[in-house]
Amino acid sequence: METKLVRIDENHIDAALIDAAGEVIRAGGLVAFPTETVYGLGGDALNAQSSEKIYRAKGRPSDNPLIVHIADMDALGTVAREVPESARKLAGRFWPGPLTMILPKADIVPRETTGGLDTVAVRMPVHPVARELIRAAGGYVAAPSANRSGRPSPTLAKYVIEDLDGRINMILDSGDVEIGLESTIVDLTTEPPAILRPGYITRRMLEEVLGEVAEDGTMMRDDSGQAPRAPGMKYRHYAPRGELTIVDGTGECVIEYINGRIERHRAEGRKTGVICTDASVGRYRADVCKSAGDRRSEETVARELYRILREFDDENVEVIYAEAFDTDGIGQAIMNRLLKAAGHRIVHVS
Ligand code: TXA
Ligand code: MG
Repeated sequence: METKLVRIDENHIDAALIDAAGEVIRAGGLVAFPTETVYGLGGDALNAQSSEKIYRAKGRPSDNPLIVHIADMDALGTVAREVPESARKLAGRFWPGPLTMILPKADIVPRETTGGLDTVAVRMPVHPVARELIRAAGGYVAAPSANRSGRPSPTLAKYVIEDLDGRINMILDSGDVEIGLESTIVDLTTEPPAILRPGYITRRMLEEVLGEVAEDGTMMRDDSGQAPRAPGMKYRHYAPRGELTIVDGTGECVIEYINGRIERHRAEGRKTGVICTDASVGRYRADVCKSAGDRRSEETVARELYRILREFDDENVEVIYAEAFDTDGIGQAIMNRLLKAAGHRIVHVS
């Protein structure tokens, strides 16, 4: 299949291009598109065959459910069997935006889309290209992140091309994304509601609206022995090809420890890399050092993380050490993704 690459300016959206992309989805095809979190791979959420195509294109296990993207509140009532007060309140505060809610599924949503589950994940993105595309496609777009299964989610169209060229009909390129990590997922089918995947919308923000909110116990700990409630979180996602270890501790100890390890790997003839921040980037003796930005700006770190992981792959780095990040605010999402990428390999030094 030839994949058509279309450039769309999010500030001056070309309606004819969006209509054409919407038509591809209506006809059962797949279109990758930008959202404020990461690029998504869109298909018609109400068409079982479209969802099957998404799984095939990504090489994704079909028990891993897709998020249904909508553009207005009426659509929520169509895909969810019931819309509790909690969902309305969250939508009022955080939609459109980087929040996904799990609700009981309506019959109209095929089980292919929900990976066989009775519940459905729903999100209303804020990115203007995503919103226009959803409308043009008929209002219900199933979209996982637009990466091959097991690779970091794409924060640029060029990464979608790398992973999916020749496997999907079209890619809408609107440049880089704003947030860089996938949406927060909150399960509203339990009492109290529970966060299944941390993201830009934090627990504290959700609790301001809902009162007590729980966290899936597998979010920040090794998940061996306990199945995470978001099926996708059980797969070893975001894994770089190199062996990644997180090093937690105070500044100088971390630098000393990592440099010591690097000497050893160098003697073994292995290519080394470090994920660090602006303040420490000059201090490491690794072959490749990448700063994720200023430690005080977690937004920047979130936006750079997946690009950095992909670049280590491209540069064939064999062993990677990452500084740890605070787990406050969006830092929790950063550490959740890093821990997964590292297979929970973390050392504490002092
Ligand atoms: O920011 C995002 O959410 C991006 C953009 C494209 O919107 N999408 C995204 O989709 O990250 P994906 O498929 O890569 O991740 C969806 C996650 C998976 O971990 C999946 O298991 C979980 O959501 N999920 C989907 N439906 C679910 C359900 N009914 N119950 C529990 N978890 C669900
Ligand atoms: Mg994904």
